[in-house]
Amino acid sequence: MNPHGLFCPNILSFIFVILLSFHGEALAAENHENFLKCLSLQSNTISKVIYTQTNSSYSSVLKASIKNLIFSTPTNPKPVFVITPFHVSEIQAAVKCSKKNGLQIRVRSGGHDHEGLSSISDVPFIIIDLINFIEISVDVEEKTAWVESGATIGQLNYRIAEKSQNLLTFPVGTCPGVGVGGHFSGGGYGVLLRKYGMAADHIVDAHMVDVKGRFLNRESMGEDLFWAIRGGGGASFGIIVSWKIKLVAVPPTVTVFNVPRTLEQNATKLLFKWQCIADKVHEDLFISPLLLRVNSTMVSVFTALFLGGVDRLLPLMQDSFPELGLTRKDCREMTFVESIVYLDGYEVEEPINVDVLLGRDFHVRFFRGKVDYLTEPIPEEAFQGIYDIFLEQDQETNGVLMFFPYGGKISEISESEIPYPHRAGNIYTLLYYAGWDLESTDDTYQRHDNMLKKLFNYMTPYVAKNPRTAYINYRDLDVGTNNKLGHTSVQEASVWGKKYFKNNFYRLVHVKTMVDPENFFRNEQSIPPFNLVKDEL
Ligand SMILES: Cc1cc2nc3c(=O)[nH]c(=O)nc-3n(C[C@H](O)[C@H](O)[C@H](O)COP(=O)(O)OP(=O)(O)OC[C@H]3O[C@@H](n4cnc5c(N)ncnc54)[C@H](O)[C@@H]3O)c2cc1C
Ligand SMILES: *[C@@H]1O[C@H](CO)[C@@H](O)[C@H](O)[C@H]1NC(C)=O
Ligand SMILES: *[C@@H]1O[C@H](CO)[C@@H](O)[C@H](O)[C@H]1NC(C)=O
Ligand SMILES: *[C@@H]1O[C@H](CO)[C@@H](O)[C@H](O)[C@H]1NC(C)=O
Repeated sequence: MNPHGLFCPNILSFIFVILLSFHGEALAAENHENFLKCLSLQSNTISKVIYTQTNSSYSSVLKASIKNLIFSTPTNPKPVFVITPFHVSEIQAAVKCSKKNGLQIRVRSGGHDHEGLSSISDVPFIIIDLINFIEISVDVEEKTAWVESGATIGQLNYRIAEKSQNLLTFPVGTCPGVGVGGHFSGGGYGVLLRKYGMAADHIVDAHMVDVKGRFLNRESMGEDLFWAIRGGGGASFGIIVSWKIKLVAVPPTVTVFNVPRTLEQNATKLLFKWQCIADKVHEDLFISPLLLRVNSTMVSVFTALFLGGVDRLLPLMQDSFPELGLTRKDCREMTFVESIVYLDGYEVEEPINVDVLLGRDFHVRFFRGKVDYLTEPIPEEAFQGIYDIFLEQDQETNGVLMFFPYGGKISEISESEIPYPHRAGNIYTLLYYAGWDLESTDDTYQRHDNMLKKLFNYMTPYVAKNPRTAYINYRDLDVGTNNKLGHTSVQEASVWGKKYFKNNFYRLVHVKTMVDPENFFRNEQSIPPFNLVKDEL
């Protein structure tokens, strides 16, 4: 083989690339100048909140809210600017000027997106980071609150508990650092889902900035758009600044338990039984097993929250799940807000460990996740196949399966009430999760990702089918994506869209077509408008 034959074309294409990129960079620099000029004309406060790539704080501001370090490596694409607005007018200016100058916008609230879509993009982009939109005002009389998107769900829980003397709360997820903006706009659920449904089921108003830079509330945005942002994923529709929510009641005392069972202690039988009762027990009771490898065996940890005291819990357990052998000693009574700290894995102290609730950090550095919904129990004999996959991994590669029971309120609400469609008929949702603290080399990433994929494939016969449903808040680009630029026909997008939204996908397309026909707000899994690509063809 003649090496020169390979060499020459490379030099040529190298030169070609240089010419292209010079041209591209000159153009980009001009656009960026124009963008900054445009902003300064639109807003006289915005210069104080723009971080350019040459600003010494750029890197720390960018990284502060990337909660999954997979998306914080030197090779990840970086935004041209990060903007951390204090005023709505600054968000409006950023939208207008981005559109004018061909920059894409990524909105970031808590930065927990499973695929990093709030922090990275393949096309020139800016980040609007809502880290300064964190106000929470609670009206105990009216049982409502306004919460800004950049607040965390832990901060929200804490403020409501504080204002209501532990009698009110809001049904959100279990990790306190998650941001309100992404969580609410994707649906949001946690330990209260059987009692109260999704976070998005309790939103009564919202303030947002649309593609034209207009500031809208529920009335001015109209019911279609207001429907879409409660579970359809905010990033397709605009920038939601704040939300008005209806608070829900919790008793002054709740009970938690955390009971591990090894295989020798009948973990498999217990998991099987759990599947048969978890969605049918009293809606005050949320039992959520976790399955993981410990040394060379499997352990299932039955974690639960009960909305009441231990005296009422024990007979309920005796009735529905006596095999677990729950005793009074396994149970702890506390306030609801303390249970959030407990379920997050921290000691409950007196006074309460506010850092856990108010902090923005997530203690796992790297993570991957996938999700399934189950409409019937996994056969008892199928568990062995799951164990085999866990046990064949090396000691450094571990993951966990989390089982979240359904039934109760979440299943009583109609599939089309809000975009989140996974309701009656589901008995639980299964989260496949791997987190690691080692430096994320390609190898650590691959090993964990492979393990999750293997589990996911193994589960195919046992999970919801046609479509195999998924949850946008556990975003997973493996279920399908738009093309790299974020444009795809409605028909192509329906492949992933129907997994997340079932038939609500088409109403989301309808709303998108009305409010953003040119597809300005877009990403790898944004809702496409009709006709952008000829859908009929
Ligand atoms: C550790 C951990 C625990 C979790 N636990 C739960 C749980 O118990 N229950 C549950 O339901 N989910 C849970 N999730 C998923 C979580 O709800 C989603 O990742 C959610 O989208 C994160 O919101 P965020 O604001 O932190 O993320 P971001 O990364 O900031 O945003 C996520 C997406 O929403 C868009 N977005 C964010 N803010 C806005 C806005 N203001 N306007 C428009 N679009 C916006 C972003 O552009 C991005 O596409 C968990 C995730 C993690 C990492
Ligand atoms: C960085 O950006 C901030 C916000 O706009 C600004 O206040 C600060 O002066 C900038 N610092 C530098 C070194 O440019
Ligand atoms: C496991 O289940 C069997 C019956 O199926 C029972 O006899 C045994 O006591 C159980 N073991 C434990 C540790 O609970
Ligand atoms: C796992 O191994 C550790 C260290 O050898 C031991 O202390 C622990 O009890 C083991 N756990 C189980 C569940 O076997």
